[in-house]
Amino acid sequence: TLLNLREIHDSLIEIAHKAGEIITTALPAVSSTGSKKNSADLVTEYDRAVENMISTTLKTKYPQYKFHGEETYDPAQPLTDEPTFIVDPIDGTTNFVHGFPCACISLGFAIDRKPVVGVVFNPFTKTLYSGILGQGAYLNQETKLPLKAENLEPLHGLDNALIGVEWGSDRSGPNFETKVRTFEKLGRAKEEGGAMVHSMRSMGSAALNLCAVAAGTLDLYWEGGCWEWDVCAGWVILKEAGGIIADGNPGNWEPSIDGRKYLAVRASPGGVGQKEIVEEFWSCIQG
Ligand code: IPD
Repeated sequence: TLLNLREIHDSLIEIAHKAGEIITTALPAVSSTGSKKNSADLVTEYDRAVENMISTTLKTKYPQYKFHGEETYDPAQPLTDEPTFIVDPIDGTTNFVHGFPCACISLGFAIDRKPVVGVVFNPFTKTLYSGILGQGAYLNQETKLPLKAENLEPLHGLDNALIGVEWGSDRSGPNFETKVRTFEKLGRAKEEGGAMVHSMRSMGSAALNLCAVAAGTLDLYWEGGCWEWDVCAGWVILKEAGGIIADGNPGNWEPSIDGRKYLAVRASPGGVGQKEIVEEFWSCIQG
């Protein structure tokens, strides 16, 4: 592409650090917490203020590109092929509200609806993940991902996997039932028809889940219900680290960024192929 993705990457890192300062000095009071759809879908005044800072900065510097942010999203204007910044000012808002130090600024850039630059910054742990299409993914701009690729245990199937899963904020109807059934199938003993994975984790941030799979500290991450701003940045980082993303539901190997159902699998040199893991996962949740 003719666009200077490296320059965009560097600008996003600068913005992420600025946003991080706002977030780490904030003390979100319960009274500042507005609820969006229901009691599990939180937004604070900081989500809005940080998004406002980010969008003002990006629109001034790059007026030619579109901007999609979680807090100003307009369903009448879905994602197009045009170059677009896709931004979640605070991914992990529930953690932020509770003071659980697992939240990040997730800044992505997509062209033709494909993520090409991603920056994910957890200001509480000062952990920065970033990636550019074709140029690799890095931790704190110096350590290539995946981490310690050579001493990661090869994945031989679901039964030695540590899997990221999330409750999300949609807790009703068939979507909720699918989640509960999936958690049960993954966790249950083999002799009782389950996959008996090593364990499951909920970090409370889709972007940090994707980055953990990119790093290799989580083996898989499965979620239905998140949005393009939750996944755009982490998507590039994961792919550049050798990971793959399939659909969370069986059958689709090329999920779209706004498809809202994802299954990410880390690179596993020496292990069973990533596609075999995806197939095992799909058949486990169908069975
Ligand atoms: C949420 C978090 C959460 C995931 C939800 C997301 P938010 O984003 O990433 O882990 O389960 O699907 O919407 O609301 O904290 O920006």
